[in-house]
Amino acid sequence: MKKGAVVYFSLDGDTEFVANKIAERTGFEIIKIKPLKEFKYKGFWKFFYGGKMSLFGERPEVEGVPNWEFYDTIFLGTPIWAGRPCPYVLSFIENHPLNDKKIYLFSTFAADEKKAYEYFTKKMNLIISDEIGFKDSFIKNKIEVEKRIENWLKGLI
Ligand SMILES: Cc1cc2nc3c(=O)[nH]c(=O)nc-3n(C[C@H](O)[C@H](O)[C@H](O)COP(=O)(O)O)c2cc1C
Repeated sequence: MKKGAVVYFSLDGDTEFVANKIAERTGFEIIKIKPLKEFKYKGFWKFFYGGKMSLFGERPEVEGVPNWEFYDTIFLGTPIWAGRPCPYVLSFIENHPLNDKKIYLFSTFAADEKKAYEYFTKKMNLIISDEIGFKDSFIKNKIEVEKRIENWLKGLI
C-alpha cells in the first residue's frame, strides 16, 4: 500500500514546527532530513557558511530513507537559504526522486516568499500540487500558524 510522508529540514525549528503540525493533522510519517556532518555554525557564521553552501550549489551529504518508492504523497518542507531551498533538502531530493509523487510544498523564510516554489517549478520542472509559506517572525504566533495549516490542509485532503 502506498503512503504519505512529511519530509523536511530545519536548522532552528521553524520548519520543524510546521512539519510536526502537518504530520499531526495528516497522520503521515515524519522524516527529518539529517546531515551526515552536523552543521554547527552559529550567529554570523551560520549565515556565512549556510549562505555560501546555498549560493555555490553545494550538495552536503544527508542520510537516506529506505523504501522511498512506497511513498506516493510528499509534504516537502524547506527553509530558504540565500534565496533558494536549503541545500540539505536539495541533496535529499537528488537521491530520492519526487517525479512520480504528489508534492505539497511548505517553506519558511525571513523575506523571500515563493522562492522555493519558483526554484522547484522553474529550475527543476517539478509539479507542485500546492504550496504554503510562513515568514519566520509569524511562526512565533503558534496559534495563527496552526489555523493557517488547518485551513490549507482542509482544501487539499
Ligand atoms: C544560512 C541561512 C540563509 C538564509 N537566507 C535567507 C534568504 O535568502 N531569504 C530569506 O527570506 N530568509 C533566509 N533565511 C532565514 C530562514 O529561511 C528563516 O529564518 C527560516 O524560518 C528558518 O527555518 P528553520 O528554523 O526551520 O531553520 C536564511 C537563514 C539561514 C540560516
